[in-house]
Amino acid sequence: MQDIQQAFTPLQIGPLTLKNRFVKAATNEGMSPDGVPSRQLVEFHAGIAAGGAALTTVAYCAVSADGCTLPNQICLNREALPHLRVLTGAVHAEGGRVSAQITHGGCFTFTRQPGQGRPLSASGGFNKIGLMSGLFFKREMSVSDMQRIASDFAQGACLAREAGFDAVEIHMGHGYLLSQFLSPLYNKRRDEFGGSLENRLRFPRQVLRAVLDAVGQDLAVICKFSITDGAKGGNRIEDGIAIAQALEAEGAHMLVLSAGLNAESITTMFGSSFPAENRAVITNPIMKFAMYLQQLAEKPVPFSELYLLAYSRQIRAAVKMPLAYLGGLTSASGVSTLIHEDFDAMALGRVLIHDPKWIGQLQTGDADRSGCTACNRCVTMMYSEGGTSCILGNPRSAELNRQPAAV
Ligand SMILES: Cc1cc2nc3c(=O)[nH]c(=O)nc-3n(C[C@H](O)[C@H](O)[C@H](O)COP(=O)(O)O)c2cc1C
Repeated sequence: MQDIQQAFTPLQIGPLTLKNRFVKAATNEGMSPDGVPSRQLVEFHAGIAAGGAALTTVAYCAVSADGCTLPNQICLNREALPHLRVLTGAVHAEGGRVSAQITHGGCFTFTRQPGQGRPLSASGGFNKIGLMSGLFFKREMSVSDMQRIASDFAQGACLAREAGFDAVEIHMGHGYLLSQFLSPLYNKRRDEFGGSLENRLRFPRQVLRAVLDAVGQDLAVICKFSITDGAKGGNRIEDGIAIAQALEAEGAHMLVLSAGLNAESITTMFGSSFPAENRAVITNPIMKFAMYLQQLAEKPVPFSELYLLAYSRQIRAAVKMPLAYLGGLTSASGVSTLIHEDFDAMALGRVLIHDPKWIGQLQTGDADRSGCTACNRCVTMMYSEGGTSCILGNPRSAELNRQPAAV
C-alpha cells in the first residue's frame, strides 16, 4: 500500500508537473469523424481525467494532411483548433493534464488526397503495407522532405500549445514514419540517414530537436518508441537501449517505452493474441484478409502482466531520464513492482478503456486487479460508430460521436 501511495506523488517532466505517476497511453479513439474532434472524444478524455490519471494522451494527431494514416484522425490545423480547445478545457476542468500524440504515418497510410502522390517513407519502392490500402509504392524522402516534415512537427506542437495542451508525445514507434527511419526493416538508405543506428536516428533526432526548440520551454516533450521491433531483421533491445540514450542526449523530457510494429509484430505491442472475432467488425475485405494473414503468421501469445518488464528494465538501467513503463499493467501489485523498479510513470491503455475510474479506485484502496481481459477487441471498436470502447461494457454513443466538439 505504501508503494501505491508513492505512485500518487507528483512528477516533473520538463516544464510540466503531474499530480501523480499515471498516464493514459494513446489509444486511437475513433472519435474524430472527418478529422474533427467529436463531443464523444471530449467526454472520453474528461472521463479519464476525472477517473484520476494525471495525464491523458490524445492519440494520433497528424502533423500534416499527408501524414494521416486514417481518415478519421485529427489533423493539427487551424480548423481543428476550436474543437481541441474544448477538449483540453474539459480535461483541465477535471484536474487533469493533456498530451497530444503527434505523428506522421509515412507509408503506413490508408488515405491519399488527390495530388499527394506516393506515400513517403525512409526508403522507396514496394510498399507492403499498401497491400491493405492499394498504395503499392512508396517514395524515398529527400532532405528537403525531411526539413518540411520536421517543421510540420514543430508547427503541430505549436498548434497543440495554442490549443491548450500541456505536453506533446512524438510518435517514434509502431511502424509510423519516424519508426520507418529507426527500423532497419524499413530503412534501406545508403546516405547519412540510413545504415548504422546513429544514421537511422538522425532524422528522428532532428524532429525531436525542432519540437524542443519550438515548444520545449512550455510543454513537456515526450517520445514514444519501440524498444524492440519484435520482428526478424528489425531493431532488438540493444538498439532500443541506444535509441533511448540518444533521445536522452537530445533532451527529450520523458520516454514512453512501447514495443512492436503494427504490421509485423502486433502481439509484441499488445502482449496477447488478437481473436478471430476481431475480423468480423472490419468491413474492408482487403483489411480483413490482411488481419487473417497476420493472425496466421504470428504464434498465439497468452497475456501475462507487465509483459515488457524484462526489456524495459534494461532501458531503465541505461538512462537517468524519466521513463514511463507501458504494457500490461493490470493490478495494484504491478504498480508496486514498477515503483520498486524505479519507473517514474506508468502508462495504461486497455485498463483505462475498460474502466476510466480505476486509478482513483486504486488510490482509495477500492480497486486491485482490473477487469480488463486483454482480449484486444477494443482495438476493432476503433472502427465502430461510437468509437473505441470495451466490449465488456456498453458501446459509446454514435450520436455524440457525430457532433463536433465546439458546437
Ligand atoms: C484500441 C487501441 C488503440 C491504440 N492506438 C494507439 C495509438 O493511436 N497510438 C499509440 O501509440 N498506441 C496505440 N495503442 C497501443 C497502446 O498505447 C499500448 O501500447 C497498448 O495498448 C499496450 O498497453 P496496455 O497493456 O496498457 O493496453 C492502442 C491500443 C489500443 C488498445
